[in-house]
Amino acid sequence: MTERPNVTAPWWSSATVYQIYPRSFRDSNGDGIGDLAGIIEKLDHLVTLGVDAMWVSPFFASPQQDFGYDVSDYCDVAAEYGTLHDAQLLIDEAHRRGLRVLFDLVLNHTSDQHPWFTESRSSRDNQRADWYLWRDGRGADGRRRPNNWRSVAEITSAWQWCEQRRQWYLATFMPCQPDLNWRHPEVREAMFDAVRFWLERGVDGFRLDMFGDVMKDPTFANVGLRPHVATGLPRLFDRSTVQNTEDNVQLARDLRSVCREYDGVGSPVGAGPRSADRERVLIGELFGPAAELRRFSADGDGLQLVFLFDFLTMHYDADWLRDRIIEFERAFPEPAQPTYVLENHDRTRLLDRVGGDLRKARVMATVLLTLRGVPTLYQGQELAQSNTYIPLRDAQDPIVRTHLPWLPEAVNRRLPERLNRDEVRTPMQWNSSPNAGFTDPAATPWLPTNADRGTANVADQDRDPDSMLTLYRSLLRQRRAHPALHSGRLDLAPGAPAGTLAWVRSTGDEQILVAANLTDRSVQVPTGTANAELLVATAADVTIDDAATPAVHLGPQCAAVVLLSPAP
Ligand code: GLC
Ligand code: CA
Repeated sequence: MTERPNVTAPWWSSATVYQIYPRSFRDSNGDGIGDLAGIIEKLDHLVTLGVDAMWVSPFFASPQQDFGYDVSDYCDVAAEYGTLHDAQLLIDEAHRRGLRVLFDLVLNHTSDQHPWFTESRSSRDNQRADWYLWRDGRGADGRRRPNNWRSVAEITSAWQWCEQRRQWYLATFMPCQPDLNWRHPEVREAMFDAVRFWLERGVDGFRLDMFGDVMKDPTFANVGLRPHVATGLPRLFDRSTVQNTEDNVQLARDLRSVCREYDGVGSPVGAGPRSADRERVLIGELFGPAAELRRFSADGDGLQLVFLFDFLTMHYDADWLRDRIIEFERAFPEPAQPTYVLENHDRTRLLDRVGGDLRKARVMATVLLTLRGVPTLYQGQELAQSNTYIPLRDAQDPIVRTHLPWLPEAVNRRLPERLNRDEVRTPMQWNSSPNAGFTDPAATPWLPTNADRGTANVADQDRDPDSMLTLYRSLLRQRRAHPALHSGRLDLAPGAPAGTLAWVRSTGDEQILVAANLTDRSVQVPTGTANAELLVATAADVTIDDAATPAVHLGPQCAAVVLLSPAP
């Protein structure tokens, strides 16, 4: 089996991405908070796992009210995470190992403690007076909000009163995160310069936070009522004039032009045929139907990738998953790549979503890593870390305290979606000790470790051939080794039994069948050839027969990846 990477396609098109939440990955100095030096210490974990790129959540200067998604200086590092030198070291050390590095750009808003905002709010006529979205209020005293725009939580308004200016400012996420005025040329240039700052230091691209919210309706007209459900949450308002607008698609193209200034610039990343490919990649955090999001990457311009979040709130159901796959294949046909996500730092862990059933989590890992597209993993997913229940009164995540302070704990405990994001941000589990190897044994980690560290930890799973970590490593190894898996086409296999998903990934000379049984009975999925070799299976009892109708036999809740060779 030789490695035959497709050298004409850009590096990112066959990449896998691993998300690091720096505060919780590894603490190198025992203050209980993860840091950049800690990430560098653990880079080899990513190498042995077999991912190609890491996306690092924000570590820039910040008062940490939203744990880094409230930036007070885009070109500096928060002291608790390290220094600019550490950030450079992280890029260089990753590159030396052949890993690409994506940073997280928070474009929609800054912290209210960013000097730009401090100045902007000081008067109506300072130099940065229009850098944010200020509006006069309605009513005689101007104390009625300018319009009915809601914050992302929808329960509260997006407008915040500022006594100093006696005006309202827009804050789509939280009051401490005022929205920038991207229609102001100086704002665009200042932000583009921050992008260049990191591109110059060699970063391979960016994940773009809340990207679809950046360019809102310039007329500030009220939004209409439109009850619907989006990524698993009930929504009340129509956001089509404030989200995913045409202007926002244009901004994607403008940002891409900034990145293009650096395409091809910089030393090679690792060794191998792709090492000199320095195209910078943009991945957008966007919400909406796949066909709508596709506009952000149309004509090979704009963002190369947009997260498709449907799997993040998935139903463990073959028909539901198949419908999404068909939808994504249609919206993102080759050479475009859909971007699948099962976990991130905002939503419930996969293991909890499948009712704690490890077999189902193994099936979903196989699905994620064998579909056509760019899969993203979140730290700890490769161990099947589970949510850590933390009552609201102990929450550090400001989201509940800001938007839903009245929510009773009894209700919180029963919600299908976790509101307190701390529950999915507890430390990465490197071993089974009380602090999970995240920080010094004597230190207090910023969030408690999960009791599942007894089994969901790197040290123990590393040695266990049946562990989740071993499964992820095998899947990623096969994905990298087989062109059909990392850059082949995808065709759903006809004749898969009910409750089963099956597809064939293929290139000119290679065909690989993926079959996943999401039911509680055993099934047989025809292989079409007697010449089949099992590459990966999520359970030990998977077999392939060469009967008259050759098939792969799958027990309950189990998946397999099978290399199909033409009959000799
Ligand atoms: C995105 C991030 C989330 C953050 C928010 C505000 O949704 O994923 O963690 O709090 O944007 O920047
Ligand atoms: Ca630290």
